[in-house]
Amino acid sequence: MPSRRNNNNRDNLLINRTVSDDQKCKSRCSTWLVGLAILVVCAPIAFVISEIVIHFFGNPFGFQDNVETVASVMQQVVITSNVTDTTLSSHTSEFFCFNILLKFIKTISAAQPDEPPAATCGKRIVGYYTEWEPRKITDKQLRKLTHLIFTNVTMNAAGEVNYHSSEQRRDFLNMKKTAKGKNLNMKVMFAIGGHLNSQYYSEVVADLEKRKTFINGIISFISRYQLDGVDLFWNWPEGEEDISNYTELIKQLRTKLTELSKSKSRKDPFLLSVVVPSGPNNFESYFKIDGFLDYVDFINIVAYDYYGPWGGRRGAIVGPNAPLYGGQRGNVDETMRYLICKTKKPNKLNMAVSFYGRYWMNVIDDSNEMWKTAEVKNGEARGMFVPWKNLGREGWNKSEAMWHEETRIPYIWKPKERMFFVFENERSLKEKMDYAVNSNIGGVYMWALGADDDENTLLNLVSSTELCEGGSGDTINFICDF
Ligand SMILES: *[C@@H]1O[C@H](CO)[C@@H](O)[C@H](O)[C@H]1NC(C)=O
Ligand SMILES: *[C@@H]1O[C@H](CO)[C@@H](O)[C@H](O)[C@H]1NC(C)=O
Ligand SMILES: *[C@@H]1O[C@H](CO)[C@@H](O)[C@H](O)[C@H]1NC(C)=O
Ligand SMILES: *[C@@H]1O[C@H](CO)[C@@H](O)[C@H](O)[C@H]1NC(C)=O
Repeated sequence: MPSRRNNNNRDNLLINRTVSDDQKCKSRCSTWLVGLAILVVCAPIAFVISEIVIHFFGNPFGFQDNVETVASVMQQVVITSNVTDTTLSSHTSEFFCFNILLKFIKTISAAQPDEPPAATCGKRIVGYYTEWEPRKITDKQLRKLTHLIFTNVTMNAAGEVNYHSSEQRRDFLNMKKTAKGKNLNMKVMFAIGGHLNSQYYSEVVADLEKRKTFINGIISFISRYQLDGVDLFWNWPEGEEDISNYTELIKQLRTKLTELSKSKSRKDPFLLSVVVPSGPNNFESYFKIDGFLDYVDFINIVAYDYYGPWGGRRGAIVGPNAPLYGGQRGNVDETMRYLICKTKKPNKLNMAVSFYGRYWMNVIDDSNEMWKTAEVKNGEARGMFVPWKNLGREGWNKSEAMWHEETRIPYIWKPKERMFFVFENERSLKEKMDYAVNSNIGGVYMWALGADDDENTLLNLVSSTELCEGGSGDTINFICDF
C-alpha cells in the first residue's frame, strides 16, 4: 500500500499552485512516481484479491466470466465503502487500489476478448442458435463460443436464399448486433437446411441454373450481412446422384467464397462447413466424404438421434439419444472413430453434443436396465423430446437419475407410469467432452444453445473444456484398423 506521507505530499503538491517551474516539474514527476508505485503495488494485490473473490464467491457464470464477475463485485465494494474520512486514511488508498484494479481489469478485458480456451489452439466451440427458441441469445453465451451458426434461413424451390419472415430478419439482425458488437473473434455463420428446410436441395443441386442461383444467393447473403460463412445442412442426400451433385455444389461454392474474400481483401477465408449423419453405413453406401473434405473448413457430425420415439417400429426400441459406447445401432465412439480413421483429419471434425433428452411412454419392462421396447400404437411409439431447461417443469427430477455404465448416460425409469427417460447431464456431457479432448478432434457443436438453462450450465461445461490438451494438428490418438 502507498504510505500516508506520499498521499499527503501528492495532495499538497497538487493544491499548491504557486510553485516555480522547477518545482512543478518535480511535483509532476513525483505524482507520476506515486501513481506508478500504486500501480506496481496494487496490481499483484488486485490479482490476489480477485483470486480470493473467485474462490469464495464461486464463479456462477463460468470460467469466461471471471473478469466480469470480479469487476462487478469490486464495483460493489467500491460503491459501498463509505469514504468520509477527512484525513487520508487507509480507506482512501484501498479505494485507490480498487479503482486501479477496475481499470486494470478493464484493460485486460479490452486487450484480450473473452473466448473459450479451445480458441487458443484454433479448436472450435460451435453453437447452433435456432430462431424458434423463445430466449434470445445473450452476450454471455456468445463469449463462450468460437462459432455461432444461425438456423433457419431459408431456400426455396428456385434455389433462392432468404429470410422466411420479417420477424426472422429482425431476430437475425439483433443476434448479429449482439455478436459483432462484443466478440470480435467469434465467427457468425448461417445454416441452410435442417429437417425443416432440406426438401429442395435435391432438385436445386441437380439443376445447373438453380444451383447457380443458390450459390449466388449464399454469396450475396454473406456479403450483405457481413457474415463469416455458411453451414450446409442437407438432411440428407440420398443416393449417388444427390451426393455427386452436392459435392459439385460444395466445390463451386468454395471457389466463389475464395473469390469473395479476394474481392473484399479479407484476411481469413470465408468458412464453409457441412453437416453429416452419424452412421458408418451412410458413408459406405453414399455419403462420399472424401469427395468434399478438402473444400470444407469443418464437418459437423450429428452424433445423436441413435434412438428416439419416432414413427414406426424403429421408434419402439428404447435407448440413449447419444450413447458414448454400446448398443446395437451405433454410438458416438463408433461414429467418431470411423470418421477420424476414414478422413485422417480429426482437426476438421466437430462432434455433436445434445442439450436434450427423450422419454418413451407405454414402455414394456423387459427387465434390462436400459435396453427396453415400447408398445407401438397406431404404428407409432409414443414419447417426447425434453430440452434440458424443461426437465423439472416436465416432471423429471434430475437428482433422481440413475447411471447406465455401458452407454455412460443417465436415465430415469418410472415403472408405474411405464415411462423411461434418457438424457444428457453434467456427468455424461463431461465424459463426452473428455472423449473430444482425448481423440484430438477439432471441436464440438451444441444442438442447441436455447435448450440450456438460464445459468448456461451445459454451455459453461462444454466451453470451459481444455480441448487443446488433447494435442494438435491431425494426430490420431488411436489405432485405425481399416
Ligand atoms: C457515510 O457515513 C456517514 C457517517 O458515518 C453517514 O452519515 C452517511 O450516511 C454514510 N454514507 C453512506 C453512503 O453510507
Ligand atoms: C424454418 O424454415 C422453414 C422453411 O422455410 C419454415 O417453414 C419454418 O416455419 C421455419 N421454422 C420456424 C420455426 O421459423
Ligand atoms: C447431377 O448428378 C448426375 C449424376 O451424377 C449427373 O448426371 C448430372 O449432370 C448432375 N447435375 C448437375 C447439374 O451437375
Ligand atoms: C428431487 O430428488 C431429490 C433426491 O431424491 C429430492 O431431495 C428433491 O426433493 C426432489 N425434488 C423435487 C422437486 O421433487
